[in-house]
Amino acid sequence: MDISTFKGRDFLTLLDYTPEEITALLSLAAKLKAQKKAGIPHDGLRGKNVALIFEKTSTRTRCSFEVAMAEEGGRVTYLDPGSSQMGKKESMEDTAKVLGRFFDGIEYRGYDQANVETLAKYSGVPVYNGLTDLDHPTQIIADMMTMEEHINKPLKDCKVRNNMCYAWMFGCCKMGVDFVGYGPQELIDGADKTILEACKQEGAISGANITLTCDPNALKGADVLYSDIWASMGEEELIPQRAKLLTPYRIDHTMLAATGNPEVIFMHCLPSFHNFDTKLAREWMDKGVDIRE
Ligand code: NVA
Repeated sequence: MDISTFKGRDFLTLLDYTPEEITALLSLAAKLKAQKKAGIPHDGLRGKNVALIFEKTSTRTRCSFEVAMAEEGGRVTYLDPGSSQMGKKESMEDTAKVLGRFFDGIEYRGYDQANVETLAKYSGVPVYNGLTDLDHPTQIIADMMTMEEHINKPLKDCKVRNNMCYAWMFGCCKMGVDFVGYGPQELIDGADKTILEACKQEGAISGANITLTCDPNALKGADVLYSDIWASMGEEELIPQRAKLLTPYRIDHTMLAATGNPEVIFMHCLPSFHNFDTKLAREWMDKGVDIRE
């Protein structure tokens, strides 16, 4: 596929992309990674400026955008959670119209999915979703790339089991990857039925089964067990109650064995509380609550 097909396009959710386009993005990423490893420089984005708007904090997403732009000869302007007027004194629509005149693209990490849609609608430049409350498509592209690197079969023959993640459902239903969201009934009941139905319908086209269940038998045959932090950014107050609710679904050696697949791989989008090396994990332990995943 000619990559000019991506020119000017927003990247708000994988649901907006065809399986062929997602495959082309994965091939392009693999090619650029190999070129970087081989020390072959390129500057496809020379003269381009991208605004990085982070209303939530970030380590990997910010670094990957900054490094990618620098390596392609472009530049970024980083706007941290406290340093813009956006959403406080200035509407998202006004911000979009102004930033669209300065920048060639906008990356946004924040809360509502509607915010990336508004930026895309009014900025006139491509907008890239760097995580919202609903979706995290760049993470899924990176994770699928990892799967291609580590699992010796095509993506469409893979099975992913996840605690809970819409973004994974979107990627899997497009790419023909079987997906099981494994977790407590309480969280399954809270899932958005319209989104689930849309993913199932999309999965019927690509050949992906999309399931949410608390039945551990559904772990059988998984190629990937994928986990997430107890509660997403901005929901930190939920962490103790989620740790209690989700501890039975924690991925450990027993759960890995339950897949029946000796080649199964474990993935996590990070951050994760797997020891006491974080301030938050230590603070909760001091209050008598163990939030280790
Ligand atoms: N679900 C995670 C994703 C981080 C990349 C979070 O929101 O904290």
